Amino acid sequence: MREEADYFLHNTFGIKAKARHFVEYESVEELQAVVRCGKRAEEMLHVGAGSNLLFLSDVDGLVLHSAIRSIEADEREGGVVSLRVGAGVVWDDLVAHCVANGWHGLENLSLIPGEVGAAAVQNIGAYGVEAKDVVTAVETVDLRDGSVHVFDAPECGYGYRKSVFKGDLRGRCAVTYVHMMLSRRFAPDLEYGGVRDALRAAGVELACVSPRQLREAIIAIRRAKLPDPAVKGNAGSFFMNPVVERGVYERIRAGYPAAPCYEAGEGKVKIPAGWLIEQCGWKGRALGCAAVHDKQALVLVNLGGATGQDILRLCNAVRADVLAKFGVELRPEVNIIGGTA
Ligand code: EPU
Repeated sequence: MREEADYFLHNTFGIKAKARHFVEYESVEELQAVVRCGKRAEEMLHVGAGSNLLFLSDVDGLVLHSAIRSIEADEREGGVVSLRVGAGVVWDDLVAHCVANGWHGLENLSLIPGEVGAAAVQNIGAYGVEAKDVVTAVETVDLRDGSVHVFDAPECGYGYRKSVFKGDLRGRCAVTYVHMMLSRRFAPDLEYGGVRDALRAAGVELACVSPRQLREAIIAIRRAKLPDPAVKGNAGSFFMNPVVERGVYERIRAGYPAAPCYEAGEGKVKIPAGWLIEQCGWKGRALGCAAVHDKQALVLVNLGGATGQDILRLCNAVRADVLAKFGVELRPEVNIIGGTA
């Protein structure tokens, strides 16, 4: 177990924020010991790699981080591979490990920043695949009393960037292990716009694409569109793509015949927030030290020296313009911590 006071919190936005206390634990027992020390759940904040967090202020409490980094695999009959993965494993290390071992299903989720626990909380998704497609169960520790609970997939309440862990149970439990079901059979999902083009651009014959080639193509698409946090602080998509009634979309399309959308079921459609933001003229525009990324308007970037409040000011300006122009409310995907959001 590692403990520090006045700890600078790592976050890919590159915002300076400190935690009064920081504890990194290596086992469920260590976490239970910390939880049973008498702090209230509201005084604790559990973080992953800091790739989906915006700190508006320092954290005047205890920040917890998992260093549970085991990957247990059980190759079963019928080509099924059952995994139990520690929440502290770096997500893309897991994807690389699975591709190297011939365990399939995660290729489209290559290079997503963050750790396995947060992936299960956020239900991360990209290029037609979401974490919920492979997650079979999530082990947690209750931050109120240290008790262990295992949630099966339906109990996780998964939806688009949604789960019970960031909904009703927000701040109440820590994910310790994530169970996933992968396959030895490779059934690539190439449906999402841009994936086939990236493979063709790499000279790959679509009918015989290999898992490694698919992973590399996804990495190439992400690198082309998404800024490297080491160069420009960011947290990937800042907003969720709004899911609206079809009528709302039709109204927008009347004025913008090329407006993109994806079917979302139950008479609803998802409109790419990046498109809405771009139509409002924000793509590549800055407000002080914060800017809208010039290659993907869904991403807000720290141009250097921005505070959480600077990023929030930009977020609110963008939201106000999208609401005024299209009547659509954008909701942040990034978790905003502290201050008055
Ligand atoms: N678009 C624009 N202008 C922009 C950006 C996008 O017009 O500046 C439009 C285009 O029509 C484009 C469409 O939006 O075809 C979709 O863009 P993209 O494929 O880049 O995907 P996205 O909807 O912007 C989502 C996820 C990403 C994920 C990609 C690929 C959310 C909030 N974001 O973005 O996830 O990588 O799909 O699957 O759902 C993340 O969560 O951090 C993240 C990067």
